[in-house]
Amino acid sequence: MFEKLELISADGILGLMAAFRADQDPRKVDLGVGVFRDDRGETPVLACVRAAEAALIAEQTTKTYVGPAGNAGFNQQMEQLVFGAHPALKAGRVRTVQTPGGCGALRLGAELIRAAAPDAVVHVSTPTWANHVPLLAGSGLKLERYPYFDPETGGVQFGAMMAALERLPPRAIVLLHASCHNPTGADLSQDEWRAVRELVKRRSLLPFIDMAYQGLGEGPDADAFAIRLLSAELPELVCAVSCSKNFGLYRERTGALHIVTESSAGGDAALSQLVRLARGMWSMPPDHGAEIVRRILSNAAAREDWAGELEGMRKRITGLRHELVRQLRAHCPRRDFSFIASQRGMFSFFGITPEQVRRMRTQHHIYMTEDSRINLAGLRAENLEYVARATAQVLG
Ligand SMILES: Cc1ncc(COP(=O)(O)O)c(C=O)c1O
Repeated sequence: MFEKLELISADGILGLMAAFRADQDPRKVDLGVGVFRDDRGETPVLACVRAAEAALIAEQTTKTYVGPAGNAGFNQQMEQLVFGAHPALKAGRVRTVQTPGGCGALRLGAELIRAAAPDAVVHVSTPTWANHVPLLAGSGLKLERYPYFDPETGGVQFGAMMAALERLPPRAIVLLHASCHNPTGADLSQDEWRAVRELVKRRSLLPFIDMAYQGLGEGPDADAFAIRLLSAELPELVCAVSCSKNFGLYRERTGALHIVTESSAGGDAALSQLVRLARGMWSMPPDHGAEIVRRILSNAAAREDWAGELEGMRKRITGLRHELVRQLRAHCPRRDFSFIASQRGMFSFFGITPEQVRRMRTQHHIYMTEDSRINLAGLRAENLEYVARATAQVLG
């Protein structure tokens, strides 16, 4: 049977990772892979995670199953982290299921939407994170696109985006990035979010919000602004959250899906469906990362340590954004890269052509995806100038 399967080439980013590993040049720079890196180029285990993990190992008395909805304490802490002191939480309108990472949450959310509305269409931004496509369309939902990024300004084409959303039929699903848009780094302003809320409400659209970088943009509360704003006035909302980046728990596959429903009874029905769907996909999510997060968030001192480490990551990225712009201004004075400093999160579109991306890799050993997405955290103080000089050379 399997002889009939076609060999498919590795996902772009996986191919890039392999090419980077094989490159022996000491000057090589990896701006491709989407993980946080410190100034030594490492993705360390956070100290607060190490401490919580040590306590967990010392104290855990059983490895028995946790159940399809996952770690109840984690779910509760995540609701507070994401929604804050939100009226929707108090009104019992939020239901949460722990998932294997943000990817699991995206897929589970898509499966729930498909169970409720098999013909629903999900509208994603142009561009969006490449993995949104298989995660959402894999559930059987149809995917369409709305305009988002403006390569001229490095910001959002807000007018075109709103005009496209205005034309959607009621009950259309709109996938939105809460903050730190991947791959562009271009986010909506608070006023723009308010306008989106009005439109979504008036047109009866369903927002599906993906938050994979809470705390890496402006801070945990500021980055959750859109979710809190929209769930205050809209009857329903779907929200996929990842702990991979902000807790550095990538391989522990830790995330959550939150569903906001109009009534508490609707929430119970949605939760029962989520449990059934999760049972059919992964049965139960892995507990280790979730228990680490629960321990950190439920202990004031550990939570403060986490907030400090998160702030360190955030400041490093913001600092790199400004320093890269400064170096580019010095070495490529004819090209305006200032948009990099006003974007947020780990990513920016560098705005160079696929051919220039290829030359960055082959001539200068600087790796980025073909669309010229760069992970700012892949830069180090010692190679910023090298990257700026290389950019000047490929721009010619
Ligand atoms: C936009 C976006 N959503 C979701 C995720 C899912 O992350 P994970 O499944 O690793 O938690 C990522 C990870 O890179 C992402 O960039």
